[in-house]
Amino acid sequence: MKVIILAGGGGTRLFPLSRQDYPKQFLQIGGEMSLLAQTVKRFRQRVNPEDMVIVTNQAYFHHVQTELRRWGAERAHILLEPAARNTAPAIALSARYCLDVLGCDPGEALFVAPSDHLVRPEEAFAERIEAAIGAAQTGQIVTFGIEPANAETGYGYIQAGDARDIGFAVRRFTEKPDRTTAESFLAAGGYYWNSGMYAFTIGCLLEEMERHQPDLAEMARSPFDQMLDRFSEAPSISIDKAIAEKSERVVVLPFGLYWNDIGSWDAIFEALPKDAEGNVIEGDCIPFGCRETLLMSHGRLVAGVGLEDTLVVETPDVIVVARRGESQKIKEVVEQLKRRQ
Ligand code: GDD
Ligand code: MG
Repeated sequence: MKVIILAGGGGTRLFPLSRQDYPKQFLQIGGEMSLLAQTVKRFRQRVNPEDMVIVTNQAYFHHVQTELRRWGAERAHILLEPAARNTAPAIALSARYCLDVLGCDPGEALFVAPSDHLVRPEEAFAERIEAAIGAAQTGQIVTFGIEPANAETGYGYIQAGDARDIGFAVRRFTEKPDRTTAESFLAAGGYYWNSGMYAFTIGCLLEEMERHQPDLAEMARSPFDQMLDRFSEAPSISIDKAIAEKSERVVVLPFGLYWNDIGSWDAIFEALPKDAEGNVIEGDCIPFGCRETLLMSHGRLVAGVGLEDTLVVETPDVIVVARRGESQKIKEVVEQLKRRQ
Protein backbone atom coordinates (compact mmCIF):
# COMPACT_ATOMS: atom_id res chain seq x y z
CA MET A 1 0.00 0.00 0.00
CA LYS A 2 1.12 3.53 -0.81
CA VAL A 3 -0.28 6.75 0.57
CA ILE A 4 -0.68 9.70 -1.81
CA ILE A 5 -1.04 13.03 -0.03
CA LEU A 6 -2.43 15.86 -2.15
CA ALA A 7 -0.67 19.06 -1.13
CA GLY A 8 -0.83 21.28 -4.21
CA GLY A 9 -4.03 23.22 -3.64
CA GLY A 10 -3.94 27.03 -3.41
CA GLY A 11 -6.86 28.70 -1.71
CA THR A 12 -7.19 31.79 0.40
CA ARG A 13 -10.35 31.03 2.38
CA LEU A 14 -8.41 31.36 5.62
CA PHE A 15 -7.09 34.82 4.72
CA PRO A 16 -5.19 36.56 6.29
CA LEU A 17 -3.38 33.42 7.54
CA SER A 18 -3.53 31.49 4.28
CA ARG A 19 -2.27 33.22 1.17
CA GLN A 20 -1.75 31.95 -2.39
CA ASP A 21 1.91 31.24 -1.57
CA TYR A 22 1.11 29.79 1.85
CA PRO A 23 -2.12 27.77 1.71
CA LYS A 24 -4.07 25.98 4.41
CA GLN A 25 -2.12 22.68 4.44
CA PHE A 26 0.92 24.50 5.90
CA LEU A 27 -0.95 26.26 8.72
CA GLN A 28 -0.71 25.07 12.30
CA ILE A 29 -4.28 24.56 13.39
CA GLY A 30 -5.40 22.52 16.36
CA GLY A 31 -1.88 21.88 17.62
CA GLU A 32 1.76 22.70 16.97
CA MET A 33 1.87 20.68 13.76
CA SER A 34 0.78 21.92 10.36
CA LEU A 35 -2.23 20.18 8.81
CA LEU A 36 0.15 18.50 6.35
CA ALA A 37 2.33 17.19 9.20
CA GLN A 38 -0.76 15.99 11.06
CA THR A 39 -1.84 14.13 7.91
CA VAL A 40 1.55 12.43 7.57
CA LYS A 41 1.44 11.50 11.26
CA ARG A 42 -2.02 9.96 10.88
CA PHE A 43 -0.77 7.63 8.18
CA ARG A 44 2.49 6.78 9.96
CA GLN A 45 0.45 4.62 12.24
CA ARG A 46 0.29 2.13 9.35
CA VAL A 47 2.84 3.22 6.74
CA ASN A 48 6.51 4.28 6.75
CA PRO A 49 7.38 7.67 5.24
CA GLU A 50 9.14 5.93 2.31
CA ASP A 51 5.73 4.55 1.29
CA MET A 52 4.19 8.03 1.13
CA VAL A 53 4.16 10.35 -1.87
CA ILE A 54 3.42 14.02 -1.25
CA VAL A 55 2.28 15.47 -4.56
CA THR A 56 2.56 19.22 -4.85
CA ASN A 57 4.04 21.90 -7.10
CA GLN A 58 7.31 23.79 -7.19
CA ALA A 59 5.92 26.81 -5.34
CA TYR A 60 5.30 24.71 -2.23
CA PHE A 61 8.34 22.44 -2.42
CA HIS A 62 10.23 24.16 0.40
CA HIS A 63 7.22 24.26 2.68
CA VAL A 64 6.69 20.51 2.18
CA GLN A 65 10.37 19.71 2.64
CA THR A 66 10.58 21.81 5.80
CA GLU A 67 7.52 20.09 7.30
CA LEU A 68 8.81 16.60 6.48
CA ARG A 69 12.25 17.35 7.95
CA ARG A 70 10.82 18.98 11.02
CA TRP A 71 8.81 15.88 11.89
CA GLY A 72 11.35 13.22 10.89
CA ALA A 73 9.52 12.12 7.74
CA GLU A 74 12.12 13.28 5.19
CA ARG A 75 12.14 9.85 3.57
CA ALA A 76 8.67 10.47 2.14
CA HIS A 77 8.73 11.14 -1.60
CA ILE A 78 7.97 14.64 -2.86
CA LEU A 79 6.50 14.56 -6.35
CA LEU A 80 6.44 17.93 -8.12
CA GLU A 81 3.86 18.62 -10.80
CA PRO A 82 5.05 20.86 -13.64
CA ALA A 83 1.66 22.66 -13.55
CA ALA A 84 -1.43 22.71 -11.35
CA ARG A 85 -4.12 20.65 -13.09
CA ASN A 86 -6.37 19.81 -10.15
CA THR A 87 -6.52 16.43 -8.42
CA ALA A 88 -7.28 13.90 -11.21
CA PRO A 89 -4.02 14.56 -13.12
CA ALA A 90 -2.10 14.80 -9.79
CA ILE A 91 -3.39 11.36 -8.80
CA ALA A 92 -2.76 9.88 -12.27
CA LEU A 93 0.84 11.14 -12.16
CA SER A 94 1.27 9.70 -8.66
CA ALA A 95 -0.01 6.31 -9.87
CA ARG A 96 2.51 6.40 -12.72
CA TYR A 97 5.26 7.33 -10.23
CA CYS A 98 4.32 4.35 -8.05
CA LEU A 99 4.43 1.97 -11.04
CA ASP A 100 7.63 3.23 -12.68
CA VAL A 101 9.73 4.75 -9.91
CA LEU A 102 8.65 2.84 -6.81
CA GLY A 103 8.19 -0.44 -8.69
CA CYS A 104 4.61 -1.13 -7.60
CA ASP A 105 2.44 -3.55 -9.53
CA PRO A 106 -1.08 -2.62 -10.70
CA GLY A 107 -2.63 -4.61 -7.85
CA GLU A 108 -1.08 -2.30 -5.24
CA ALA A 109 -3.61 -0.24 -3.29
CA LEU A 110 -3.31 3.55 -3.05
CA PHE A 111 -4.84 5.58 -0.27
CA VAL A 112 -5.27 9.15 -1.53
CA ALA A 113 -5.85 11.90 1.02
CA PRO A 114 -6.12 15.68 1.17
CA SER A 115 -3.47 17.37 3.31
CA ASP A 116 -5.62 20.05 4.88
CA HIS A 117 -8.21 18.39 7.13
CA LEU A 118 -8.56 17.75 10.84
CA VAL A 119 -9.38 14.17 11.88
CA ARG A 120 -9.79 12.91 15.43
CA PRO A 121 -9.02 10.67 17.19
CA GLU A 122 -5.85 9.80 15.35
CA GLU A 123 -5.69 6.21 16.71
CA ALA A 124 -9.12 5.30 15.35
CA PHE A 125 -8.03 6.43 11.88
CA ALA A 126 -5.57 3.51 11.63
CA GLU A 127 -8.50 1.07 11.61
CA ARG A 128 -10.25 3.09 8.88
CA ILE A 129 -7.15 2.79 6.69
CA GLU A 130 -7.28 -1.01 7.03
CA ALA A 131 -10.99 -1.16 6.17
CA ALA A 132 -10.55 1.03 3.10
CA ILE A 133 -7.54 -0.87 1.81
CA GLY A 134 -9.35 -4.21 2.28
CA ALA A 135 -12.28 -2.99 0.17
CA ALA A 136 -9.97 -1.41 -2.43
CA GLN A 137 -8.21 -4.73 -2.93
CA THR A 138 -11.50 -6.24 -4.13
CA GLY A 139 -11.52 -3.80 -7.06
CA GLN A 140 -13.69 -1.05 -5.61
CA ILE A 141 -13.18 2.69 -5.33
CA VAL A 142 -13.59 3.47 -1.66
CA THR A 143 -14.80 6.81 -0.34
CA PHE A 144 -15.51 7.88 3.24
CA GLY A 145 -18.88 9.42 4.02
CA ILE A 146 -19.38 12.14 6.60
CA GLU A 147 -22.79 12.64 8.22
CA PRO A 148 -23.92 15.97 6.67
CA ALA A 149 -24.57 18.77 9.16
CA ASN A 150 -26.08 21.30 6.72
CA ALA A 151 -26.62 22.03 3.04
CA GLU A 152 -22.96 23.00 2.44
CA THR A 153 -22.31 23.48 -1.30
CA GLY A 154 -18.53 23.07 -1.15
CA TYR A 155 -18.62 19.27 -0.79
CA GLY A 156 -19.40 16.20 -2.85
CA TYR A 157 -22.63 14.38 -1.87
CA ILE A 158 -22.85 10.60 -1.86
CA GLN A 159 -26.18 8.81 -1.95
CA ALA A 160 -25.78 5.45 -0.24
CA GLY A 161 -27.38 2.39 -1.87
CA ASP A 162 -27.40 -1.29 -0.91
CA ALA A 163 -25.25 -2.52 1.96
CA ARG A 164 -22.03 -4.23 0.93
CA ASP A 165 -19.62 -6.42 2.95
CA ILE A 166 -18.42 -3.19 4.42
CA GLY A 167 -20.12 0.11 3.73
CA PHE A 168 -22.63 0.77 0.97
CA ALA A 169 -22.76 0.83 -2.80
CA VAL A 170 -22.94 4.39 -4.13
CA ARG A 171 -26.18 5.15 -5.94
CA ARG A 172 -25.12 8.63 -6.98
CA PHE A 173 -22.16 10.92 -6.41
CA THR A 174 -22.80 14.63 -6.95
CA GLU A 175 -19.82 16.95 -6.69
CA LYS A 176 -20.59 20.41 -5.28
CA PRO A 177 -24.33 20.68 -5.96
CA ASP A 178 -26.09 24.04 -5.92
CA ARG A 179 -27.87 25.09 -2.71
CA THR A 180 -31.36 23.89 -3.76
CA THR A 181 -30.03 20.45 -4.73
CA ALA A 182 -28.00 20.16 -1.50
CA GLU A 183 -31.13 21.06 0.51
CA SER A 184 -33.15 18.42 -1.33
CA PHE A 185 -30.46 15.80 -0.53
CA LEU A 186 -30.60 16.70 3.14
CA ALA A 187 -34.39 16.56 3.20
CA ALA A 188 -34.40 13.16 1.44
CA GLY A 189 -31.86 11.62 3.85
CA GLY A 190 -29.47 8.78 3.02
CA TYR A 191 -26.73 11.13 1.78
CA TYR A 192 -23.19 11.65 3.03
CA TRP A 193 -20.65 14.36 2.39
CA ASN A 194 -17.59 13.08 0.56
CA SER A 195 -14.53 13.38 2.78
CA GLY A 196 -12.16 13.71 -0.19
CA MET A 197 -10.18 10.56 0.73
CA TYR A 198 -10.12 7.67 -1.74
CA ALA A 199 -8.68 4.17 -1.83
CA PHE A 200 -8.31 1.99 -4.95
CA THR A 201 -5.76 -0.20 -6.62
CA ILE A 202 -3.61 1.41 -9.32
CA GLY A 203 -5.18 -0.98 -11.85
CA CYS A 204 -8.72 0.00 -10.88
CA LEU A 205 -7.88 3.72 -11.10
CA LEU A 206 -6.36 3.36 -14.56
CA GLU A 207 -9.26 1.22 -15.84
CA GLU A 208 -11.85 3.72 -14.63
CA MET A 209 -9.80 6.53 -16.13
CA GLU A 210 -9.77 4.73 -19.51
CA ARG A 211 -13.56 4.52 -19.30
CA HIS A 212 -14.41 7.99 -18.02
CA GLN A 213 -11.46 10.33 -18.73
CA PRO A 214 -9.73 8.83 -21.79
CA ASP A 215 -7.59 11.91 -22.53
CA LEU A 216 -5.94 11.63 -19.11
CA ALA A 217 -5.77 7.83 -19.33
CA GLU A 218 -3.94 8.11 -22.63
CA MET A 219 -1.33 10.33 -20.98
CA ALA A 220 -1.09 7.99 -17.98
CA ARG A 221 -0.19 5.11 -20.31
CA SER A 222 3.19 6.77 -21.04
CA PRO A 223 6.15 6.03 -18.81
CA PHE A 224 6.53 8.42 -15.86
CA ASP A 225 9.16 10.72 -17.45
CA GLN A 226 7.09 11.19 -20.58
CA MET A 227 3.94 11.82 -18.60
CA LEU A 228 5.80 14.45 -16.61
CA ASP A 229 6.91 16.18 -19.85
CA ARG A 230 3.34 16.24 -21.18
CA PHE A 231 1.68 17.05 -17.86
CA SER A 232 0.71 20.63 -18.73
CA GLU A 233 -1.50 19.28 -21.56
CA ALA A 234 -3.61 17.35 -19.03
CA PRO A 235 -7.24 18.46 -18.60
CA SER A 236 -7.76 20.44 -15.42
CA ILE A 237 -10.29 18.33 -13.51
CA SER A 238 -10.83 16.96 -10.02
CA ILE A 239 -10.90 13.23 -9.23
CA ASP A 240 -14.44 13.76 -7.96
CA LYS A 241 -15.69 15.00 -11.35
CA ALA A 242 -13.47 12.78 -13.49
CA ILE A 243 -14.04 9.45 -11.76
CA ALA A 244 -16.19 9.47 -8.61
CA GLU A 245 -19.29 11.00 -10.26
CA LYS A 246 -19.16 8.51 -13.12
CA SER A 247 -17.75 5.20 -11.97
CA GLU A 248 -20.01 2.31 -10.98
CA ARG A 249 -17.35 0.84 -8.73
CA VAL A 250 -17.61 3.42 -5.94
CA VAL A 251 -18.50 2.34 -2.40
CA VAL A 252 -18.89 4.52 0.68
CA LEU A 253 -17.76 3.69 4.19
CA PRO A 254 -19.35 5.83 6.91
CA PHE A 255 -16.34 7.60 8.47
CA GLY A 256 -17.69 7.83 12.02
CA LEU A 257 -14.84 10.04 13.35
CA TYR A 258 -14.55 13.78 13.88
CA TRP A 259 -13.72 15.36 10.52
CA ASN A 260 -13.38 19.03 9.69
CA ASP A 261 -12.15 20.42 6.38
CA ILE A 262 -11.69 23.81 8.08
CA GLY A 263 -12.75 25.75 5.05
CA SER A 264 -13.47 28.94 6.99
CA TRP A 265 -12.70 30.83 10.20
CA ASP A 266 -16.05 29.70 11.55
CA ALA A 267 -14.91 26.09 11.09
CA ILE A 268 -11.64 26.88 12.90
CA PHE A 269 -13.58 28.42 15.76
CA GLU A 270 -15.67 25.26 15.96
CA ALA A 271 -12.60 22.99 15.91
CA LEU A 272 -10.43 24.66 18.58
CA PRO A 273 -10.63 24.31 22.38
CA LYS A 274 -12.56 27.04 24.22
CA ASP A 275 -12.10 28.78 27.58
CA ALA A 276 -14.88 28.97 30.18
CA GLU A 277 -16.59 31.82 28.31
CA GLY A 278 -16.49 29.90 25.02
CA ASN A 279 -13.62 31.96 23.58
CA VAL A 280 -10.80 30.64 21.40
CA ILE A 281 -7.61 32.49 22.37
CA GLU A 282 -4.32 31.98 20.53
CA GLY A 283 -1.13 34.00 20.92
CA ASP A 284 -0.69 37.16 22.97
CA CYS A 285 -4.32 38.22 23.61
CA ILE A 286 -6.35 39.67 26.47
CA PRO A 287 -10.05 38.87 26.32
CA PHE A 288 -11.95 41.15 28.68
CA GLY A 289 -15.62 40.35 29.06
CA CYS A 290 -15.62 38.53 25.69
CA ARG A 291 -17.89 35.61 24.86
CA GLU A 292 -17.86 33.05 22.06
CA THR A 293 -15.12 35.05 20.37
CA LEU A 294 -11.88 34.11 18.62
CA LEU A 295 -8.81 36.26 19.29
CA MET A 296 -5.67 35.22 17.46
CA SER A 297 -2.40 37.12 17.55
CA HIS A 298 0.75 36.41 15.56
CA GLY A 299 2.89 39.16 17.10
CA ARG A 300 1.08 42.19 18.44
CA LEU A 301 -1.00 42.15 21.58
CA VAL A 302 -4.70 41.78 20.78
CA ALA A 303 -7.09 43.07 23.44
CA GLY A 304 -10.80 42.44 23.08
CA VAL A 305 -13.34 44.20 25.28
CA GLY A 306 -16.95 43.07 25.55
CA LEU A 307 -16.91 41.25 22.21
CA GLU A 308 -19.45 38.58 21.39
CA ASP A 309 -19.53 36.20 18.44
CA THR A 310 -16.56 37.93 16.84
CA LEU A 311 -13.47 36.67 15.02
CA VAL A 312 -10.25 38.71 15.27
CA VAL A 313 -7.14 37.51 13.43
CA GLU A 314 -3.95 39.56 13.61
CA THR A 315 -0.99 38.99 11.25
CA PRO A 316 2.03 41.25 10.59
CA ASP A 317 0.37 43.06 7.66
CA VAL A 318 -3.37 42.43 7.95
CA ILE A 319 -5.97 42.38 10.72
CA VAL A 320 -9.35 40.82 9.99
CA VAL A 321 -12.34 41.41 12.25
CA ALA A 322 -15.49 39.51 11.31
CA ARG A 323 -18.83 38.56 12.76
CA ARG A 324 -19.09 34.85 13.51
CA GLY A 325 -21.23 33.08 10.94
CA GLU A 326 -20.09 35.41 8.15
CA SER A 327 -16.50 34.34 7.71
CA GLN A 328 -17.20 32.79 4.27
CA LYS A 329 -17.44 36.39 3.06
CA ILE A 330 -13.74 36.97 3.79
CA LYS A 331 -13.15 35.63 0.29
CA GLU A 332 -14.88 38.77 -1.05
CA VAL A 333 -12.18 40.79 0.73
CA VAL A 334 -9.54 38.76 -1.08
CA GLU A 335 -11.30 39.43 -4.38
CA GLN A 336 -11.32 43.18 -3.67
CA LEU A 337 -7.64 43.04 -2.79
CA LYS A 338 -6.84 41.32 -6.09
CA ARG A 339 -8.59 44.13 -7.97
CA ARG A 340 -6.43 46.66 -6.13
CA GLN A 341 -3.17 45.07 -7.26
N1 GDD B 1 -1.01 18.08 -5.98
C1 GDD B 1 -2.12 18.77 -6.11
N2 GDD B 1 -2.36 19.40 -7.29
N3 GDD B 1 -2.97 18.86 -5.08
C2 GDD B 1 -4.10 19.56 -5.25
C3 GDD B 1 -4.42 20.22 -6.45
C4 GDD B 1 -3.47 20.14 -7.54
O1 GDD B 1 -3.63 20.69 -8.63
N4 GDD B 1 -5.60 20.86 -6.30
C5 GDD B 1 -6.02 20.58 -5.04
N5 GDD B 1 -5.10 19.81 -4.40
C6 GDD B 1 -5.17 19.27 -3.02
C7 GDD B 1 -5.55 20.29 -1.97
O2 GDD B 1 -4.37 20.84 -1.38
C8 GDD B 1 -6.35 19.44 -0.98
O3 GDD B 1 -5.47 18.81 -0.06
C9 GDD B 1 -6.98 18.35 -1.85
O4 GDD B 1 -6.19 18.29 -3.04
C10 GDD B 1 -8.44 18.58 -2.22
O5 GDD B 1 -8.54 19.74 -2.98
P1 GDD B 1 -9.56 20.91 -2.64
O6 GDD B 1 -9.40 21.99 -3.65
O7 GDD B 1 -9.44 21.28 -1.19
O8 GDD B 1 -10.95 20.17 -2.90
P2 GDD B 1 -12.34 20.61 -2.32
O9 GDD B 1 -12.28 20.81 -0.85
O10 GDD B 1 -12.87 21.74 -3.12
O11 GDD B 1 -13.26 19.31 -2.62
C11 GDD B 1 -12.84 18.00 -2.27
O12 GDD B 1 -12.86 17.82 -0.86
C12 GDD B 1 -14.18 17.91 -0.23
C13 GDD B 1 -14.03 17.65 1.25
O13 GDD B 1 -13.24 18.64 1.82
C14 GDD B 1 -13.78 17.01 -2.97
O14 GDD B 1 -13.23 15.71 -2.83
C15 GDD B 1 -15.19 17.05 -2.38
O15 GDD B 1 -15.97 16.03 -2.96
C16 GDD B 1 -15.11 16.85 -0.87
O16 GDD B 1 -16.43 16.93 -0.30
MG1 MG C 1 -10.73 21.17 0.50
